[in-house]
Amino acid sequence: MGKGKLKKWEENATFEHVFEPPLDGIIGGRDFMKGTWHSEVFGNNNPITLELGCGKGEYTVELARRYPNRNFVGVDIKGHRFWRGAKISKNEGLTNVAFLRTRIEFIAQFFEENEVNEIWLTFSDPQPKDEKGNKRLTSAPFLARYRQIMPAGAVVNLKTDSPILYTFTHEVIAEQKLEILVDSADVYGELIQRIDAEMKDVLMIQTAFEKRWLSEGCKIHFTKFKL
Ligand SMILES: C[S@@+](CC[C@H](N)C(=O)[O-])C[C@H]1O[C@@H](n2cnc3c(N)ncnc32)[C@H](O)[C@@H]1O
Repeated sequence: MGKGKLKKWEENATFEHVFEPPLDGIIGGRDFMKGTWHSEVFGNNNPITLELGCGKGEYTVELARRYPNRNFVGVDIKGHRFWRGAKISKNEGLTNVAFLRTRIEFIAQFFEENEVNEIWLTFSDPQPKDEKGNKRLTSAPFLARYRQIMPAGAVVNLKTDSPILYTFTHEVIAEQKLEILVDSADVYGELIQRIDAEMKDVLMIQTAFEKRWLSEGCKIHFTKFKL
């Protein structure tokens, strides 16, 4: 049987690579951690990728194994979920992994301008009832937050089972005239046949939610675009 939430929260508190700051990221009038990820957390200047809504952190850990010269931060409001990725990365001695418990709405409180190079959105909640779409992680308000922490032209990857989120993302991309780098409505049906081995290997990483949707026969959609 798996550990309960309480045990996971307790163990998270002992992990040096897990950060669970106050939700708005401000302590005593100062932004928490902003601008310190390279120097204080990773001890190098390697590029930083975020997995937003990381759940158990499969992409964070798997990408960190494949790319030791890059840094990865899994972000989720639910610490007991990313405990899994935190535990695995600690046991494996991965030094290029961290986890941050916060609401993605506050992400710009935790990273400085240009501090982040790439974002992965893995099976984000599609928010079907959100008619304006402002709660979706690819909506204009969220892209504005990402622009506060990434250089112009930085890449966002969206992997989703949700036709709602996939179509909505295309609408935002069109409205904002953004450049799509890779796109497919059916990752396993056709995309993996037309991409190089490295990208195929990355796209074959499967998260807990992805496995669930695949077992229910859902198609997996992917869009990689430049902000
Ligand atoms: C559907 S799950 C996907 C989890 C994981 N990426 C996967 O594919 O298995 C969405 C995750 O996003 C997190 N989440 C949703 N909205 C969030 C927000 N505004 N801020 C932080 N985390 C959020 C949830 O806690 C949940 O773990």
